Amino acid sequence: MATNDAHLCDRLLADGWRVTGLDCFTDYYARSIKEAHLAAALAQPAFSLVEADLLAVDLAPLLADVQLVYHLAGQPGVRGSWGRQFEVYTRNNILATQRLLEAALAAGSKPIVYASSSSAYGNLPVMPLQETMAPAPVSPYGVTKLAAEHLCRLYTDVYGLPTLSLRLFTVYGPRQRPDMGFQRFLAAAAAGQEITLYGDGAQTRDFTYVSDVVAGFVSAGDLCLAGRAAGQTLNIAGGVRASVNEVLAEVARLAGRPLRLRALPAQPGDVRDTWADTALAQRLLGFRPAVGLAEGLARQWADMNEGRWKMKDGR
Ligand SMILES: NC(=O)c1ccc[n+]([C@@H]2O[C@H](COP(=O)([O-])OP(=O)(O)OC[C@H]3O[C@@H](n4cnc5c(N)ncnc54)[C@H](O)[C@@H]3O)[C@@H](O)[C@H]2O)c1
Repeated sequence: MATNDAHLCDRLLADGWRVTGLDCFTDYYARSIKEAHLAAALAQPAFSLVEADLLAVDLAPLLADVQLVYHLAGQPGVRGSWGRQFEVYTRNNILATQRLLEAALAAGSKPIVYASSSSAYGNLPVMPLQETMAPAPVSPYGVTKLAAEHLCRLYTDVYGLPTLSLRLFTVYGPRQRPDMGFQRFLAAAAAGQEITLYGDGAQTRDFTYVSDVVAGFVSAGDLCLAGRAAGQTLNIAGGVRASVNEVLAEVARLAGRPLRLRALPAQPGDVRDTWADTALAQRLLGFRPAVGLAEGLARQWADMNEGRWKMKDGR
């Protein structure tokens, strides 16, 4: 229940759904930020929040009355997924997903839309990335997201549990996670602070505005409810690539001042480029990204300056 999840809750509530959110508030970033992101949903009578760990909670009563499950809980971040931390990624991304799949099956085959990641692909030699390409993740995080995707497909193939996996490509916009690039760049630019840049900045990403991601989730949910989810994996992306240097130039323009950059080497687990082919999502979901990079970045900047998600602890 944090960044992408909070946007999705707001949209589902606006569409008239009753929504139960489940989150154990991991310490990956401050709880106060997650609560602030959820504030709009929490104010709605049709929303309830269960504070629980997917790995421990009795899911049967929670799933009994639901029509559809959006599974976004997980441990994000590629750089921190090496070493001892891998255990956290294994638990929250693989084991938690398997437990949810079992519970959804036992509850009468409740459909699941899973938030996978472009990190499943790794550094493939051909672009744009298509779902039929053999993935080769370059981070332990990517391995766990791919494993969870395979579990979803497996439960569909073997037990007929309806699932869909959406490979999200670098999501940005208001309420972005505080460890992600745009949020760090914009906050540092506003405060005149130094920005840490990993790599030479020529690395490219397919950036996806959060309302486009939410639209993808909603359409995926509709496909599940229509009985047409068959374990597919779909790219959800803005469909245009930009380099980190291009993003930084745009950030400097928005801030109206040159940026102070500190370059560090690219980190293990960082992919060089991402760029998605979204034809399959367009065909199956009618997915068409609507918000371009300059507009989306300007919205995130404006939202940050309005301080709507300003946290109690000042972050
Ligand atoms: N933000 C992106 O650009 C992006 C890109 C690709 C994929 N994703 C995926 O989308 C999902 C949401 O990403 P986000 O950026 O909103 O991350 P986030 O960290 O803001 O949200 C994930 C939430 O899951 C919760 N959680 C983790 N393990 C849990 C468990 N065992 N039980 C209950 N709750 C648990 C955390 O407390 C957190 O609030 C993640 O699965 C992530 O891997 C995100």
